[in-house]
Parts: sequence; C-alpha cells; structure tokens
Amino acid sequence: MSDQQVFAAIDLGSTKVCALVGHALEDDRFEIVGIGTASTHHGIRNGTIVDVQQTVAAIRKAVEIAGRKASHPLTRVVVGFAGGEIEGQDQRVMIALKDREVQESDIERILQESRTMMGCSSSELLHTIPKSYRIDEQGGILNPVGMVGARLEAQVHVIRGSDMVLANLKRSVERAGLTVREGDLILQPLASARAVLTEDDKELGVCVVDIGGGTTGMVVFQNGALSGVGVVHMGGSAMTKDLAAVLRISQAEAERLKREVFSTPGHSEPVVPEDEEAVPLSDEAMTGAGRRVQVREVVEARLEEILRKVKADLDRLRQGAYLARGVVLTGGVARMPNIVSFAEKIFDMPISVGHPGDRVQGLVDQTSGPEFASAVGLLYFARDQWSPADVPVREPVASAPVSQEPVTKEKEREGPPAGVRLWNWLREII
Ligand SMILES: Nc1ncnc2c1ncn2[C@@H]1O[C@H](COP(=O)(O)OP(=O)(O)OP(=O)(O)O)[C@@H](O)[C@H]1O
Ligand SMILES: [Mg+2]
Repeated sequence: MSDQQVFAAIDLGSTKVCALVGHALEDDRFEIVGIGTASTHHGIRNGTIVDVQQTVAAIRKAVEIAGRKASHPLTRVVVGFAGGEIEGQDQRVMIALKDREVQESDIERILQESRTMMGCSSSELLHTIPKSYRIDEQGGILNPVGMVGARLEAQVHVIRGSDMVLANLKRSVERAGLTVREGDLILQPLASARAVLTEDDKELGVCVVDIGGGTTGMVVFQNGALSGVGVVHMGGSAMTKDLAAVLRISQAEAERLKREVFSTPGHSEPVVPEDEEAVPLSDEAMTGAGRRVQVREVVEARLEEILRKVKADLDRLRQGAYLARGVVLTGGVARMPNIVSFAEKIFDMPISVGHPGDRVQGLVDQTSGPEFASAVGLLYFARDQWSPADVPVREPVASAPVSQEPVTKEKEREGPPAGVRLWNWLREII
C-alpha cells in the first residue's frame, strides 16, 4: 500500500468531535498527519445527536483543523459513534455446498442471510461479523474459502442500531460536506479495540471498555472472535454533573476540577478540544486537601456505578468464560490515575489501560492518550474497508485538490464534490 494514500476518520464523541487523517504504513501502523478536535458542546448527548446544527458546526471545525494540518482536504470518512440502542446477536446460518469449493460469493450469501434472519433493514444495520465456520464435522474454521464439503455452517454476529440515530449521524456528517458510504459507520468500542488489542488478546479472551463522556461502550472477544457488544449510557460527564451539584459550582468548573484532581504527574496532559475555553477555578472550587478528598469520593462513587453496570453486562456476555487478558480500559476516563486498582476490585480480573500510541507515528503526542483509541481504530476500518481505487492520494497544498473519484456527467452538473467545496472554502479562510 502506498504511503501517500490518505485515510480519514471522524469520531463523534459526546464531549469532542475528533477528525483524524493518516497514512497506512507497511508495519500495520499509521502515520498521523492531521488531527482536529472541537468541543461537541451540547450537540451530542450520551452518544446520540440531539442538536444537528451544533454537531455539524463541531464536525466542520474539527475537519477544518485536521485538513489544514494534513494539507489535505477531507472527503470520504469513516465515522465512529457510540450512542443509541445497540443490539448484537449471534446468528447461525447454513448453506449446502454439495461437495464443491467454498467461494467468496458463499460468504456474502451467508452474511446476507444472517441479516435477513435478524430482521434488519439496511438503515439499521451496523456490522455483520463472521465469528467462525464449520464444514461438515470440522468446526473452528476462520476462513473457509477454497475448502470443500457437503455443507457450510457459519456463526455470525450481527449488530444493529436505531435507524433514526444512524440517519441523523449520516446526515450531520454529510451536511458538514463529507461523504459517508454504506459500512462506514463504526461502533466506537469496536474501533477502540482495533487500536489497542493484538490477535493474541482476542484469542485469549478480552473485554475492551471505552469510558467516554456520555457513554461507556464495551466489546468482548473470545477465541479470536467478537462475542458481544454492550453500551451503558453513562460516562465522565455524569461524574462532572455530580460534582457540580455537590459542590454548587458550574459544570465547566467541575470538569476542570475533576481533571486537575485526577491528573497523573509525569503523564501527557489530555488533549482538550481546540475551541474549549480555559475556566478559572472560583474560591468555592479551590483544591485544598479536604476538597480533593470530597472530589474523589463523588467521582469514584459514579465510576463504581458505571463499572458495576459494565460488569453485569460482561457477565451476561461472557457466560462464565474466562477472559485471560481481562479488561482493557480506553476513553478519557481511563486517564484516572487509580482506575486500574479501582477496576480490579470490581471485575476481579486483570485490568490495563489501552493506549493507541504503539500504533501511530507522526503526531504521536496528540493521539496516544486512551481517549484517542477509537479515532485511531477508525483509520484501520477505513484501510481495511475502502477499495484501493477509492482511497484519495495526498497532494501538496499548493496544487488544487482534485477528487480521486472519476467525474461523471452527473457529477459535472452537481458542481465540485463536497470535499472540494469544503477545501475551496478552507482556502478562502486560511
Ligand atoms: N484525568 C481525567 N480524569 C477523569 N476523567 C477524565 C480525565 N481526562 C478526561 N476525562 C473525562 O473523559 C471524558 C471524555 O472522554 P472521551 O474523549 O473518551 O469522550 P467522548 O469520546 O467525547 O464521549 P463518548 O465516547 O461517551 O461519546 C470526559 O467526561 C472527561 O471529563
Ligand atoms: Mg468516545
């Protein structure tokens, strides 16, 4: 793969929108050449869009910053999101082979059949992920193409979302001048897992828990395959709200106080959205020793509630199976310095914090925190899903950006593609 091919992602978080631009490297890592973050303000709540205009404005801002840093306009993107009601279900599908070889088209037939069995319309479908195959008596097959037998059986995990939630996500990203194609909407914790897990982790059993601002998403892997997904509609913002209520201070102050009390000396500072205003702490929010203890108590009470809900979900999903790699925490809340020992007591299994830093070069400092696991993971989805002909190639700023898609007569009538319009607009304001 050429290192000039450009992949772009938008992570729609409840607190921040993050746009990321990167080149895929030969060693399975990414060189990050552009990043832009913008505060979501109140456009996204618990992972669901509640104000399209605010969300579009945040996407535009993040995209503008990332595009400028990368000297490349963003056109097609993969989009990560966390919200709405998510349902994951296993489907068992069987087709007759009659002693012929399994072909790619058989796999497509199986995936299609599993979606039909789930009763899933294309507007609510998120992911169809094959877990394992069986040909006649032989089970545990990861890729059956080329094998022969009488019948092919597959276990497929189908994840669906709410069609209304997905439609609004797509619409907001498109209104910001970007293209999202079918299959380019990705569940955030799946993306986080992609950025922080190894094949070994998945084989041995692991759960990734992404604790963001408004949601806590989880994905479980056993025997190398996805075994379940879950979401708790609560995250760090609930801790901030509790703090604001108890201490009678504004949410902005409470947020600042929380991050100050839970900062890790010697660790990189969290990357705050570029448009976030610095809030001075008032006298009421002063961080004396007594006040710090109070902050810890309030925040940790909510953290415990979130982790107990996740544990209940996890126990249901793993059905007694042992996860040797335990729980890997990502998301902004995973920055809390004591979160590992805290979570160990609740889960009674190994706990670690997943940083995407090992998977990136380039703008490493800005993307290695656990809150960027999902954005980095999205780039892998883009790399693996986009057909090579569709991937834009990076061009120097001086030359006018040209869409990599062939220009059809219809497109000529529509005028320049959205990404080029955005780029022209950007050039006007730079
Ligand atoms: N040091 C810290 N201690 C505690 N919480 C922190 C710390 N740093 C960041 N956070 C919290 O992390 C949350 C933001 O995390 P993240 O950026 O992963 O969320 P998001 O992706 O915007 O939201 P979501 O994934 O829920 O849609 C905020 O609630 C913030 O207060
Ligand atoms: Mg998130």
